[in-house]
Amino acid sequence: MKKKIFCTAFVLAFLSASSAFSQTPKSEEKILIAYYSLRNGNTRIAAEHIQKNVGGDIFRIETVQSYPSEYRAVTAQAKKEFDTGAWPDLKTQVKNFENYNVIYLGSPNWWGTIAPAVMRFLSTYDFSGKTIIPFITHEGSRMGQSEADIKKLAPKAELLPGIAIRGRSVNDAGADVENWLRKIGKLK
Ligand SMILES: Cc1cc2nc3c(=O)[nH]c(=O)nc-3n(C[C@H](O)[C@H](O)[C@H](O)COP(=O)(O)O)c2cc1C
Repeated sequence: MKKKIFCTAFVLAFLSASSAFSQTPKSEEKILIAYYSLRNGNTRIAAEHIQKNVGGDIFRIETVQSYPSEYRAVTAQAKKEFDTGAWPDLKTQVKNFENYNVIYLGSPNWWGTIAPAVMRFLSTYDFSGKTIIPFITHEGSRMGQSEADIKKLAPKAELLPGIAIRGRSVNDAGADVENWLRKIGKLK
């Protein structure tokens, strides 16, 4: 008898641990997929992979001032923005942000973390009680400091494990995205 109770308790503990990633029942999820992408490229494609699987509204984060066209100049400007904390102003606002409770947040990895525009996005809205699920495209650094920095900027949000996708392979990342969504309990 004791053994049976112990086994039941163990199974219950396991089940609750394995469902710890999906606190909002899927039927109550109001999904926003917000992403920044320098030339509306790799990270947009990652956002589209996610939308195919979970639905939701897509929002492109855009800066008022565009970045220079030359790659080195972009990296130099980005470095300056990180060093000074002068993140760029954003062009458009999410309508009825308060209605969303699950936010997939996409960024390219810039200098080992999320792009300054995404830092600005995180500091613009109130993420209290919301779930943030990061997706990062990169060329080798994977997530880097992205998750730690998102946590710093939205301390009252629940942060689920994100995905890092190699930018140059993003077109072929559909299956990886699907597997990741299954793992975190978000596949429809
Ligand atoms: C300013 C800048 C900094 C970057 N820094 C890194 C980096 O530190 N690590 C890395 O793996 N990739 C870095 N990259 C490459 C991008 O993360 C990668 O190409 C990404 O997929 C671009 O996404 P996008 O097309 O959506 O902007 C950097 C790119 C730029 C423009």
